Amino acid sequence: MEEKQVIRRIGVLTSGGDAPGMNAAVRAVVRSAIFRGIEVVGIRRGYNGLISGDIVKLDERSVAHIINRGGTILYTARSKEFMTEEGQMKAVQTCKLLGLNGIVAIGGDGTFRGALDLSKHGIPVVGIPATIDNDIACTNYCIGFDTAANTAIECIDKLRDTMQSHERCSVVEVMGRHAGHLALYVGLAVGATAVLVPESKVSFEEDVIEKIRNARLNGFTHYMIVVAEGAASAMEVAQKIKEEICIEPRVTVLGHIQRGGTPTGRDRVTATRMGYRAVDILAQGGSNRVVTLRNAVMTDIDIVEALAERKGIDSEEMTVLEAMTGI
Ligand code: F6P
Repeated sequence: MEEKQVIRRIGVLTSGGDAPGMNAAVRAVVRSAIFRGIEVVGIRRGYNGLISGDIVKLDERSVAHIINRGGTILYTARSKEFMTEEGQMKAVQTCKLLGLNGIVAIGGDGTFRGALDLSKHGIPVVGIPATIDNDIACTNYCIGFDTAANTAIECIDKLRDTMQSHERCSVVEVMGRHAGHLALYVGLAVGATAVLVPESKVSFEEDVIEKIRNARLNGFTHYMIVVAEGAASAMEVAQKIKEEICIEPRVTVLGHIQRGGTPTGRDRVTATRMGYRAVDILAQGGSNRVVTLRNAVMTDIDIVEALAERKGIDSEEMTVLEAMTGI
């Protein structure tokens, strides 16, 4: 009979674009592990840190007062070297040298691809989804989305005040290189005139000009156009509006401001639950899993399965948006 490995020490890392709530997840991993008598080593700068052995021992105290902090105390990176077999072998050596029986990798799908590579070399890995893009298909929710959305909503509400006073058109670009979940959600929350997402083919005439025209015909004199960065550039959209209907929009690119800031309660609690779950999986001998929140239930699935799924834009939200902007 195969002997069950006793988990004595695990590593935790954050990788890819940071997301508010990553610190809360790190804290939960550390506290849940210590609660079970497992030691935790923090790996800095994502997979680069695993390659170079850039580590820090973590105890209860080292994760005190971080639940409310944005960013990640472990730093983050997108590691090119880890994409090579040589880099992966170095990372495996670090795990062996340090006696790590498992790794918790916090990040987006790039992070999970790295986790899968590591697991192929025999290191048990559990992924925690954290990205403001909320584009991991296997989970309804990724840590950071709520904070980023609320940051964008707050900024756009401020913009609306001045747009209304001056009877102007505002084109706001939100993050999302490949995904429009943030733009759609924010667009619904701010009552946007139009929202452009990368998942839908953009018809400028229909999706922007006609919406502004309709709004004007209905008596509105200010317009809010929300654009996901992957759908179009806000500058170009503004230029086209100017050329077609002779109004001069003001452009705001919210950029990385959306990735920072104090995590909301939702992000802190989700991160804490996910961190706990990840340690639970490793402690029970599980590996190569991704923690997921599905229909409000915390569960987990195989990494390969998680990476195979593609998340489409929420069709119900799109239908509602159409009704809200189609007046
Ligand atoms: O983390 C996701 C994300 O914020 C995307 O929305 C955005 O396109 C990208 O990261 C920006 O990455 P970088 O940090 O390299 O500018």
